[in-house]
Amino acid sequence: MKKINIAVDGPAAAGKSTIARLVASELGMVYVDTGAMYRAITLAHLAQPVLDFETLVQKINLKIVNDNGQKIYLNDEDVSERIRENDVTLNVSYVASQKAVREKLVGIQQELTAAKGVVMDGRDIGTQVIPDAELKVYMIASVTERAERRLKDNQQRGIEANFEDLVKDIERRDHLDMTREISPLVKANDAIEIDTTGMTIEAVKDKIIALAREII
Ligand code: C5P
Repeated sequence: MKKINIAVDGPAAAGKSTIARLVASELGMVYVDTGAMYRAITLAHLAQPVLDFETLVQKINLKIVNDNGQKIYLNDEDVSERIRENDVTLNVSYVASQKAVREKLVGIQQELTAAKGVVMDGRDIGTQVIPDAELKVYMIASVTERAERRLKDNQQRGIEANFEDLVKDIERRDHLDMTREISPLVKANDAIEIDTTGMTIEAVKDKIIALAREII
């Protein structure tokens, strides 16, 4: 079996993490959620807002443990759940637009994918992090459906949310991510677009598995 990397990009709450995790598990690959890394740095920034980003990324210790799912540690503290809370979500696109932050994280992500065998999801994976990925998927879905999915997700996590606020947050983050100067969210030329509106998780997963099986 050929060892490959799979890049999964797309706008906020399009179901990328859920699908990427399932695909990785079924294909015996490692799943990496890069949004969690930007969220962890955002948490560090919120704790020390006066620090410039270059100093901040030098000071913090980020550890990612990937074992059928992902745990993320900021200075040895498990922040995997904390980074899903609203204060982080509200500020993450601003932090992710900073050059020092992107350089640091893209470097870590490229190390993680160097030996192949990784399903990585984010915004710039197919364009910047692994432009040579053997399979690139660009997942989209209607804003309404994305907000509904996020609402369920937040409710399960015990995070306060309402539908209208989620629609606004998703639209705001998409706009910031798509219009930022460095590595904006854009579909790679060779990415396969999947509109997951109205599709079940199972159906999206099976579609990506089928695409992967054509090349492994
Ligand atoms: O995937 P998730 O919604 O958790 O990502 C949170 C934020 O992190 C995104 O809205 C985006 O601003 C940033 N991000 C990014 N590049 C990535 C992954 C996430 O800029 N590769």
